[in-house]
Amino acid sequence: EKVTVSVIKADVGGLCGHTLAPIELLDAVEYVVENAVDETLIDYYVTNCGDDIDIVMTHNKGVDNDEVHKLAWDALTDATEVAKELKLYGAGQDLLSDSFSGNVKGLGPGCAEMEFVERRSEPLVVFCCDKTDPAAFNLPFYKMFSSPFNTPGLVFDPSMTEGFKYEVMDIIDHKRVLMSTPVETYSLLALIGNLERYAIKRVYRGYDNEIAAVASSEKLNMMAGEYVGKDDPVAIVRAQSGFPAVGELLEAFANPHLVSGWMRGCHWGPMMPVGEEDAMPSRFDGPARIMALGFQLSKGRLVGPNDLFADKAFDKARDKALDMADMMRSMGPFQPHRLPESMMEYTSVPKVLKALESRFEEIPENNCKLDKVTDRGDLE
Ligand code: 13P
Ligand code: 13P
Ligand code: MG
Ligand code: MG
Ligand code: MG
Repeated sequence: EKVTVSVIKADVGGLCGHTLAPIELLDAVEYVVENAVDETLIDYYVTNCGDDIDIVMTHNKGVDNDEVHKLAWDALTDATEVAKELKLYGAGQDLLSDSFSGNVKGLGPGCAEMEFVERRSEPLVVFCCDKTDPAAFNLPFYKMFSSPFNTPGLVFDPSMTEGFKYEVMDIIDHKRVLMSTPVETYSLLALIGNLERYAIKRVYRGYDNEIAAVASSEKLNMMAGEYVGKDDPVAIVRAQSGFPAVGELLEAFANPHLVSGWMRGCHWGPMMPVGEEDAMPSRFDGPARIMALGFQLSKGRLVGPNDLFADKAFDKARDKALDMADMMRSMGPFQPHRLPESMMEYTSVPKVLKALESRFEEIPENNCKLDKVTDRGDLE
C-alpha cells in the first residue's frame, strides 16, 4: 500500500511583527490535527519556522485529498482565531479566502505532497523555510541530485548513475517542463539559474521515475494580486538507498547561497541553516532560515524528527551566512541587496515610482551644457 506525506503550511500571525508563530498557535493547530489521527491521518508533526506554521501529515489518501486539505485548513483557521484574539501581527496573513473549496491550493497556504510505496527503511527530510520563496530550492536541489561534488552517490550508486529528472515551473507563464540530468544539465541550469521566473516543483529518479523531492511553489504574492507575504516554502526529500544520503542532502546547505526574501520580501540575503530552536529570524526580519527535520517512516508513522541542522558542523555555515548578511546589508536600499522591481513583494514600490513619472522629461539631443535650475526647481 502507498503512503502519502503532506506538508501544508501558512503564516497566520507573528509575535511580534513577522518573527515567530508562538506556541499558542501551534497548540491550536495541534488540537485539530490530533483529533484526526486514526480517522484521517496516520501521524503528524507540527512545528514552525519563524512566523510560518508547518503541518507534516502522513495518511493513505493520496495527494490533493479533500479531507486532508480541509483538515489543515480548519487547523490553520482555528489558529487564525487565536492570532486575532492575541492581536498578533498579520493575523490570517496567508488565508486569503473566507471559505474552503476542496483544496488549499490557490487559497494561500503552501503545500508539498508525495505518495510512494514505503521502502524497507524510508528516511526522509522535511525542509521548512522562512523569509524566502520557492526558487530558494533551485540551487540546493541541483546540488543534491546533479552535482557529484556535492553528492558522490551519483558516482558510487548504480541506481543514481542515470541521473534525475526535474519538473521546472515557469511561474510567469504558468507552464512546466521536464528536464533530465546529466544529459540536459546545462539547459536545466539555463532555466533554474533564473530565480525570477523558474522554480523546481518535483525531482524524479531517472531510471524508474520514482519521486525523490517535492517543494511547495504557490506564489502567494501573485495569487492575491497585491502583497500578502512571500510564500516561505517547504520541501520533502527522500534519502538513502537509491537516493542521495541524508548527509548529501544537507551538504547542499553547508555553503550558504543567496535567496530572495528577507526584509519586506524585497532583498537578497543568505539562506542560514538552523535547528528548530534558532528558527526565529529577527535581524532585519531575517536572514532567511531553513530547518531540516529528519524522519524515518514506519508504516506511515513519523519516527523523529532529528533536528538535522542543529549539528555543530553547520556552525561555520551559520557564521558565513552572518558575514554574507553584513556584506549585503552594507548596500542598504541599493541593488543587488534590493531585489529588482519584478521580484519585490510590496506593491507600494511601483506607487512610489509612479508618483515620479510626471517629473521625467526627454533627454535633449545635445546634453553637454549645464542646465539651469529655475526657481520652481525644474530644469531649463
Ligand atoms: P555508518 O558507518 O555510521 O553507518 O555510516 C555509513 C555511511 O554510509 C555514512 O555516509
Ligand atoms: P513573512 O513572509 O515571513 O510574513 O515576512 C514578510 C515581511 O515583510 C518580512 O519583513
Ligand atoms: Mg508574516
Ligand atoms: Mg514567514
Ligand atoms: Mg515571506
